[in-house]
Amino acid sequence: MDRNDLIRLLEDMSLEEKIGQLVQIPGSFFEDDFIITGPANYINYTGEDLALAGSVLSILGAGKLRAIQKRFMDNHPHHIPLIFMADIINGYRTVFPIPLGQGAMFNPQLSRECAAIAAEESAASGVQLVFSPMADLVRDARWGRVMESTGEDPYLNSVYTKALVEGYQGEGSDNLRAKGRVSACVKHFAAYGAATAGRDYNTVELSDRTFRDEYLPSYKAAVDAGCDSLMTSFNVLNRIPSSGNNYVMRTILREEWGYDGVVISDWAAINELVTHRIAGDEKEAAYLAINAGVDIDMCTRCYCGHLKELVEEGRVDERLIDESVLRVLTLKNKLGLFENPYRDMDEEKEKTFILCDDNRAASRRAAAESFVLLKNDGILPVGNGEKVAFIGPFTDTRELNGSWSIFAGSEDNMTIEEVLRAENLDYVTAKGCRFGADYPLMGMGGADQFDELSPEAEEELLTQAEEAARGAEKVILTLGESNHMTGEASSRGFIEIPRIQQRLLRRVAAVNDNIAVVLFTGRPLDIREISDTAKSVLVVWQPGTEGAGAIVDVVTGKISPSGKLPMSFPYCVGQVPVYYNELSTGRPYSAGNDNKFLSKYIDIPNAPAYPFGFGMSYSAFDISEVRLDKSVLSKGDTIKAEVTVKNTGSVKAAEVVQMYIRDEYASVARPVRELKGFTKIELEPGEERAAVFDINEDMLRFTGADDVYRAEEGMFTVYIGNDSTTENEAKFELV
Ligand code: GLC
Repeated sequence: MDRNDLIRLLEDMSLEEKIGQLVQIPGSFFEDDFIITGPANYINYTGEDLALAGSVLSILGAGKLRAIQKRFMDNHPHHIPLIFMADIINGYRTVFPIPLGQGAMFNPQLSRECAAIAAEESAASGVQLVFSPMADLVRDARWGRVMESTGEDPYLNSVYTKALVEGYQGEGSDNLRAKGRVSACVKHFAAYGAATAGRDYNTVELSDRTFRDEYLPSYKAAVDAGCDSLMTSFNVLNRIPSSGNNYVMRTILREEWGYDGVVISDWAAINELVTHRIAGDEKEAAYLAINAGVDIDMCTRCYCGHLKELVEEGRVDERLIDESVLRVLTLKNKLGLFENPYRDMDEEKEKTFILCDDNRAASRRAAAESFVLLKNDGILPVGNGEKVAFIGPFTDTRELNGSWSIFAGSEDNMTIEEVLRAENLDYVTAKGCRFGADYPLMGMGGADQFDELSPEAEEELLTQAEEAARGAEKVILTLGESNHMTGEASSRGFIEIPRIQQRLLRRVAAVNDNIAVVLFTGRPLDIREISDTAKSVLVVWQPGTEGAGAIVDVVTGKISPSGKLPMSFPYCVGQVPVYYNELSTGRPYSAGNDNKFLSKYIDIPNAPAYPFGFGMSYSAFDISEVRLDKSVLSKGDTIKAEVTVKNTGSVKAAEVVQMYIRDEYASVARPVRELKGFTKIELEPGEERAAVFDINEDMLRFTGADDVYRAEEGMFTVYIGNDSTTENEAKFELV
């Protein structure tokens, strides 16, 4: 079909049919022959709603979806196919590290490969659009969804959202018809991660400059990469919820960015204009949303229940409906659904490609690259023949996937214990304690995670752990958050590991002080006690299907850790939100300055426990002074900034060389420094190589006091090092 065909189809459709294209219905309605099932009765869809729907979410399976699609199209007046959409966030059945862990890889190319695998696996099961990448900038570790982001930096997030869109959709235009592709839906537009107090779904209050210069770039990167759809966020912006916000959805997205892709609301977000109290009822909510350019209503009856009436009353121009419907039909056409409504649905491929060895190998490689070594006083890697004890609640569990891995069963994962046996590593193992959340937990699928034990049973596990530790030269202690403690609707006020795990740490440390903690987490945690007690700390996030194997690879030294923190680890929760690219303030504090009247705390440090960009390896690297090929930059020109990186250690390892730039003076307050480039270099012992970065005027732009987005002439400092605190600098002037 070409555009004219689509327009002819549109003209031939009834108003009811058009509105149907703007309705997304939960998959549960379609799984039992269109019978309305219990879960969505509260939505009270009618038979006509189901018969005219445009898309469905969260059901998969080639055979099932093929049957649904055929039955649906046979009954549809114009035989318009459904789009099947799903939350494939960090893998479908082969699960990769959570996005925060993928951000720690500082390797977007590898994330692109992971996304391509996720696309091909899920396409075989009938998925045609994925609700990914999540491009929300995150600075508050209390927010449960930081696990779903690639972190606190606008540039890093932008590089990743571009890579993920290209992984899902392929590069360049008109690639969605190629085999193994799915359409990407960037979310949540916009600034959902700035929820006040880190409390999910809470109010967002941002200045327009912070919004535009720090929160918007990663969504813009997805749009520029050709992302075919975008999802609204639950939150308000300037006190108007995104799904009814004309400034964000029309002025910025459609007019300034020229975006003509599909906009879909988040789950029930149109209906929530009522609970936000900017719409008196669902009809008003529908009016506001269609005017804001929200094309698809996810999982409410606002559109199918009220748009027809609004058109008939003359309050909504039918041309507005037509614009949205044409965007939806265009997306279906880009996917090739009119020629092949079943696309990649392939029962045979589901059996042979999903979780195949190559996909598992990619998962294991990504997991290993996501790990961040925060501390290592000689415990890691463990040596051959050393007596090692692997202790902790993550030692015998398959629950290594992140909270959004809702289509993958953990039965596809090996436990650390099973990997040790498979690799003939005769380490002693002990569970030590249960995960031990200190409050009731509800997983994404509604499953409760209660692992209560009797005090006697608890004491038995602790005693066994002590015995295992007592007889070992080194202890690998697996601690952290279970995946029920992170993700959507999982904000935390305290960000330590569960109390029973703290008890385990103390009991083990009392009998053996050669401890390396392997830390599972979906967010930065307060790890003061862990850092004080353990000689080594390795953050493994929620590593996915092959996480156990990757952990053994790194702990035994087969692979050197190379990850860097994509989000600062705070000293304690009182410091949150803490992030490297802060403003100077009028009274900046620096270590050693004992003046009272400075921007600091009287009881804790300003600096995070571990800063953005920090991470160690098993080797050591030297980075030379910064060399610039010129010290004056004019518009259209480029400065080459170069350092020499040398592996001065004894093992092969990779270093992430990072370039930050500081705008010394400007018409508005500017961050103390901003990441503007990075490169990951793997070197043999003794090997050295140049790392070269281009600096141009474009990367110096920001929204100035006159609200114009441009660079301002003046002095700049460039820093090149291996984390955000490097003082390895050189200066240049923009003229
Ligand atoms: C959820 C999430 C969103 C997800 C959508 C569909 O509430 O906010 O990220 O894609 O609903 O499941």
